[in-house]
This record gives sequence, structure tokens and C-alpha cells, in this order.
Amino acid sequence: MERTVIIDALQCAGEGQLINVRGWVRSRRGNKNVSFIALNDGSTIKNIQIVVDLAQFPEENLKPVTTGSCISATGHLVASQGSGQAVEIQLTELEVYGTADPEQYPLQKKGLSMEYLRTIAHLRPRTNTFGAVFRIRHNMAMAIHNYFHEHGFFYFHTPIITASDCEGAGQMFQVTTKNLYNLKKDDEGKIDYSDDFFGKQTSLTVSGQLEGELAAMALGKIYTFGPTFRAENSNTPRHLAEFWMIEPEVAFIQKDELMDLEEDFIKYCVRWALEHCKDDLEFLNQFVDKGLIARLESVVNTDFVRLTYTEGIKILQEAVKNGKKFEFPCTWGDDLASEHERYLVEEHFNKPVIMSDYPKDIKAFYMKINEDDKTVQGTDVLFPQIGEIIGGSVREESLDKLNSEIERRDIPMKDMWWYLDTRRFGAAPHAGFGLGFERLLLFVTGMQNIRDVIPFPRTPKTAEF
Ligand code: 4AD
Ligand code: MG
Repeated sequence: MERTVIIDALQCAGEGQLINVRGWVRSRRGNKNVSFIALNDGSTIKNIQIVVDLAQFPEENLKPVTTGSCISATGHLVASQGSGQAVEIQLTELEVYGTADPEQYPLQKKGLSMEYLRTIAHLRPRTNTFGAVFRIRHNMAMAIHNYFHEHGFFYFHTPIITASDCEGAGQMFQVTTKNLYNLKKDDEGKIDYSDDFFGKQTSLTVSGQLEGELAAMALGKIYTFGPTFRAENSNTPRHLAEFWMIEPEVAFIQKDELMDLEEDFIKYCVRWALEHCKDDLEFLNQFVDKGLIARLESVVNTDFVRLTYTEGIKILQEAVKNGKKFEFPCTWGDDLASEHERYLVEEHFNKPVIMSDYPKDIKAFYMKINEDDKTVQGTDVLFPQIGEIIGGSVREESLDKLNSEIERRDIPMKDMWWYLDTRRFGAAPHAGFGLGFERLLLFVTGMQNIRDVIPFPRTPKTAEF
């Protein structure tokens, strides 16, 4: 018999029609006469209840139907007599696909800690929380593609293996087929990569931006959406060594339009979650973060604050004067610490902030330099609970200025020749940003740790599964 997915079965009126469902048993309880199986197939957070008449199915036959086992159940869909569900299935035929020994199956109890669930990341998608998170993750990916498609952007694929360090932060994972047990070095102690797979030193990309810029100089509006890798040794709830990034790049826009795009895009994604992930959000709102839905609604309905870095520093220094204590000093020229970002976003303004015009020395080489020659047109979006969710900027389109910045920073020119060609042939004003997909998911799900919004997190000293 053809399978009905549970999300569809729950939409049907229970008129006694025969249906078949398949899924994993969440629980089984009952008495001498009747047994109730809660079955979930991942299509929705909701379980379907299967009622077993023990006069027809001896308890003995039901023995393998324990929490975690996988079954196929056929029966009549009827209006439920119990509260809590509109319909249920009266079982007529049962097949057990796979058992799960109650002595060994780890997901028996409710309320297992997030830390423990990370150690069984291969099974945690079967919990309510992770089912909800990963359905939302899918929906957010769809929202992102929809947004850009509707707005005339082309999805452009940038390479994963690269020979250039976009952010210039030197936090790259090397890619090599060289025999590390027998690594030859020259007289200066340098490694000769000419006989390596690519004939040069290569790494996993930290960002698709540079290639994205090349594409924007031909297709006008593009975006990337792919995995990026950073070997930064940051053991925080907001950093992953492997994360997904969305990077739109647009020709002919300026700073204000870039900030408009950042704000409109994030609001679209959050609105999409509210519209498409209702059941899952309600679950998370109830069990993970009581303020979640209110926070999502508030972000959709407020204008983000737009603030320059210099104004931000003034507010922070004013706060310090009035008795606010920060661990780190806030002096003009320093990167904001996460406590500073959070003060601005959560205490001072109590809404998202787009901060712009940072000191050039704390930002990457490609950002457009302002006339003051001290600040650059970076436009980061700072979010409550998360901190930086988007890093963006207007790009320096002048070949001369870009060249002198590359020289000042000692970036190896020969690796950048193709990037510089965009400034040589038909240079155009352009801008773009990168959104950390998992940071967006932290916000949308209310989860506390970035390791819990990606199926198999990669962090320092962890690459299990
Ligand atoms: O600010 P970042 O480093 O900017 C770039 O990479 C630019 N090339 C983007 C662009 O303009 N096209 O990173 C962008 C975003 C951050 O705001 C953050 O949300 C996320 O990527 N991010 C991380 N997310 C998880 N783990 C990490 N280690 C992250 N590093 C950055
Ligand atoms: Mg950044």
C-alpha cells in the first residue's frame, strides 16, 4: 500500500479510510486492552497516534515496537476520541522494519542535554528539537534562494579550493596531496609546492567574495551559498570551523543601498520562517526559548538602527562614563568586543544595528576607503543575542587605491592578478556582504550554541561523524 506522510495524514478528516504510515516510534504506552503508539516520520514535528486493539494484536507481537524502532502501520484513519489530536489510526496491519533495543537506544528519556546530544549527532535529528531545527534550516535555505531569485540575482558557484586568502586573516586549512611523512624543504626551510597536486599552495576557501566580485562585474547581481572554512581557534558558541555563507555581490550600488539590501534580506528570511515554520517555531518557543516568536516578530517590524563606528564608540564611552563596566576598553581604532556589540544592540537601542564606516586597519583590504582616509565603508549587521550576523562592505573600485592598500598590507600581488583585472577592465562601483547561515539559524531557532544548528559541527578538536 502506498505510504502517506504524517503531515498529510494529519490534515485529512478521519472518515475511516485505510492508510499506511511509516516512521520511528517515539513512545508506546497503554493498558491491558489498548496500546497507543506515537509515530513520527520527520515530515512534521507532530506525531500521529496509532491505536492498537490488544484483542487483535497480542502484546507479544507488539514487543519489538519500542521507542526508536521503525515500523510500517496500516489502519483506518478515524476521528480521535482523545484530546490532543484530531485523528488517529486504528491499526490493522503492522510491519517492523527495524528494532531498537531499549537497553541500548540512547534517546529513551526526555530532557537530554544539548552537550550529550552532540555526542550522538547521528541520532539527534530524531528528537523534537533537532527535527525542528533541521526543518527550519531547510526552509531558510529555500527562503534565501527565493529571495535572490525573485530579486534578479544569479546563483553563482565559487570554488571551495583556492589559492587566495580573501579575508587576509591567515586562518585557512591547507589542501595538499603531499606526503606529510616525507616533507622536503629547501635551504630556507620553505616547502616546494610545484610538485603538489595543484602546483601551488592551496587551501579551503574562507569566502567566495573575490570570485563573486568577478561575477558581479559580468552578471550584475549574483549570490553564492556554500560552505566556507576557518581555522580560527575560537571555541565559542558562535564560531564553527566549517560553516555556510551566503554572499551577494551587486554592481552599481552604494552604501545606503547595500544597507537596505542587508535589512530587507534578513527581514524576508525571518518573515519566511514565521510563515512557513509555524509548528516548529511554536515548539521551540515553548521548550527552548520563550521569547523566540516575539523576537522574530519584532525584528520584522522594526527599522534597524544605522550607526557609524565612530558614533558607536561615542555611545560606549558615554556609557562607561555613566558607570557601565566592560571587560575590554573601547577606544577608537579597536575592534568592538562582543560585549560592546551586545551593549549597543541589546541595551542601548534594543534592536538590530547596522554599523558602518570602520577604521580601515580593523577591516579587510578590499573595502572602499572614505575621503577621511581613516575609515572604510564596511556595513556589518549586529543582532541581539548573536552579535555580528552579516559582514559587508562597498568595495574599493579604484585600481590605484586598491594597489596601495595591497602594498601597505604586504599581500602577495602575484596571486591577486585576476582580481585586480576587474579594476582594470570596466571597473564599476559595487558592494556586497556575507551572511553566516548558522548565525541566522541561531537567531531564528533561539538555540544557544552554533553547534546545534548544523547537523555535524566541525570545531577545534572535533570532527566526529
Ligand atoms: O565578516 P566575514 O569574515 O566577511 C567575509 O567573509 C566577507 N568576505 C563577506 C562578504 O562581504 N562577501 O564573515 C561574514 C559572516 C559573519 O558576519 C558571520 O555571520 C559569519 O560570516 N562567520 C562565521 N559563522 C560561523 N563561524 C565562523 N567561524 C564565522 N566566521 C564568520
Ligand atoms: Mg566580519
